[in-house]
Amino acid sequence: MGALHPILVLTLTMTALAATISAHNITQMLSGYPEYSEFNSYLTQTKLADDINSRVTITVLALNNGAMSAITSNHPLSVIKNALSLLVLLDYYDPPKLHQISKGTTLTTTLYQTTGKVPGNLGFVNITDLQGGKVGFGSAASGSKLDSSYTKSVKQIPYNISVLEVSSFINAPGLLTAAAPSASDVNITAALEKAGCKTFASLLVANGVIKTYESAVEKGLTIFAPNDEAFKAPGVPDLSKLTNAEIVSLLLYHARAGYTPIGTLKTTKDALPTLATNGAGKYDLTVTTAGDSVTLHTGVDSSRIADTVLDSTPLAIFTVDNVLLPTELFGKSPSPAPAPAPSPTTSPSPAPVASSPGPAKAPSPKAASPPAPPADTPGGAPADAPTHVAQSSTSNNAAGHVKCSALLAVLVTISSTVISSFVLS
Ligand SMILES: *[C@@H]1O[C@H](CO)[C@@H](O)[C@H](O)[C@H]1NC(C)=O
Ligand SMILES: *[C@@H]1O[C@H](CO)[C@@H](O)[C@H](O)[C@H]1NC(C)=O
Ligand SMILES: *[C@@H]1O[C@H](CO)[C@@H](O)[C@H](O)[C@H]1NC(C)=O
Ligand SMILES: *[C@@H]1O[C@H](CO)[C@@H](O)[C@H](O)[C@H]1NC(C)=O
Repeated sequence: MGALHPILVLTLTMTALAATISAHNITQMLSGYPEYSEFNSYLTQTKLADDINSRVTITVLALNNGAMSAITSNHPLSVIKNALSLLVLLDYYDPPKLHQISKGTTLTTTLYQTTGKVPGNLGFVNITDLQGGKVGFGSAASGSKLDSSYTKSVKQIPYNISVLEVSSFINAPGLLTAAAPSASDVNITAALEKAGCKTFASLLVANGVIKTYESAVEKGLTIFAPNDEAFKAPGVPDLSKLTNAEIVSLLLYHARAGYTPIGTLKTTKDALPTLATNGAGKYDLTVTTAGDSVTLHTGVDSSRIADTVLDSTPLAIFTVDNVLLPTELFGKSPSPAPAPAPSPTTSPSPAPVASSPGPAKAPSPKAASPPAPPADTPGGAPADAPTHVAQSSTSNNAAGHVKCSALLAVLVTISSTVISSFVLS
C-alpha cells in the first residue's frame, strides 16, 4: 500500500500545526483599551483578527470608537470588513519608521489587497510624511486625498506587530459605495462558473445540493470548490459509479457551515466539520499551513487552497486543486485487498444525508462525469464481491447498485482495517 501510515500522517499534521501557532493576539492586545472596543469587536466579527494573528511584520491602524461609528452606523459588515482590512498594513511601521520614510512618501500593501479581487492598486495605502511631523494616510488610487492621519502609538511588539491610532478610515474609490453584494444576492452557481469550477457547479445543480448551500449562506458558509482540472485528474473516482446519496455527500463535503476566511483557516487547529458531517460519518477536514499556503486534508487526499473567489461576510468561496475525497466514501487506500475482517453489522450507510435536497433520484445527465478512473481507484473493485452492505443503500437502481455496494463493501472493510490498526498501534 502506498498510503502513509495514519500515525505518520498525524505526526506530520501536528508538526505543521505547531508552526502556525500565532505570535500575538490582537484581541488581547487591544482589550486593555476601552477607546478601541468597537474596533476590536469588529476585528473579531469580521474574523480579521485571525488574519492579523496569523501574520508577522504588520501594522494595524486602529480607530477609536468615535471614528468607527462613521463606518459602522450605515454600512453592512462586508463593507466594514473591507474598510478595516485597508487599515492593516503588511509591513511594520512603528512611530520612528513613519518619520523615516525615504523621500517622505511610500505605498504599502494591505490586507484588503489580499482578500478577493481588488482592482488595480486599490488595496494599497499611501503613507506620506507631511510637514510639521504629521503623517498622512490615503488610498494609493490616483487623485485620492490623504484623508487619515497618525494620532498616536498604541502598542508594538517589534518587529512583529505595531498598533497605531489614526484619525479616520481610509476611503478608497468604491470602498463604501460599490458595496459587496449581500450574501443572499450572490449567485453561487454563476460565481463558481466564472471561477473555472463549471463541473462542480453543474454537479451542485444537477443533484440539488445548490439549494442546501443557498439556504446555509445566511448563517455563514464556506465553499471549497474543485476547479474543472481537478475533476479530470488521474485517480478521481468515476462519479457515475456512486449512488446519488454518495454524490450528495461528496458535494456537501466541499462546504462547511460558518464564514471561514483564509486567515481563520490558517489559525484553525481542530478538524473542521463539513455540511456532510452527520451521525453516520465525521466527514471532516484538517487544515495545515505553510507560510501563506493553506492545505486541506481529507485522510485520503489533500488539496491546496488555490484561490479566493469571494470573501464577503458571511460567504467565502475558495477554489481547490483537487476533489476532496472523504474517508467515509473512499476509504484509506483504494487497494482492493481482500480483508478477512469481520463484516460490519452496524450500517455503514453512506450518510442518510439529513438535508438531502431535491430531485436526487433522477439519473442526472452526468455530463460532468470525468473520464473513467485508472485501474487503481476504487472503481476497480471486483463487481462480484460479497454485497453485505447492499441493504444500506437508498438507491433503487439495481444494476449500478450491486456494483457500488461491492465497492463499498471493500472500502468499508479497508477503512475498518485501517481504523483498527490505528487504534491498536
Ligand atoms: C515574533 O514572531 C515570531 C514568529 O512567529 C515569534 O517566534 C516571536 O516570538 C515573536 N516575537 C515576539 C517578541 O513575540
Ligand atoms: C485572543 O485573546 C482573546 C481575549 O483575551 C481570547 O478570547 C482568544 O481566545 C485569544 N485567541 C487566541 C487564538 O488565542
Ligand atoms: C501619496 O500621495 C501624495 C498626495 O496625494 C502624493 O503627492 C504622493 O506622490 C503619493 N505617493 C506615492 C508614493 O504615490
Ligand atoms: C445563477 O446563475 C446561473 C448560471 O449562470 C443561472 O443559470 C441561474 O439562472 C442564475 N440564478 C439566478 C437566481 O439568477
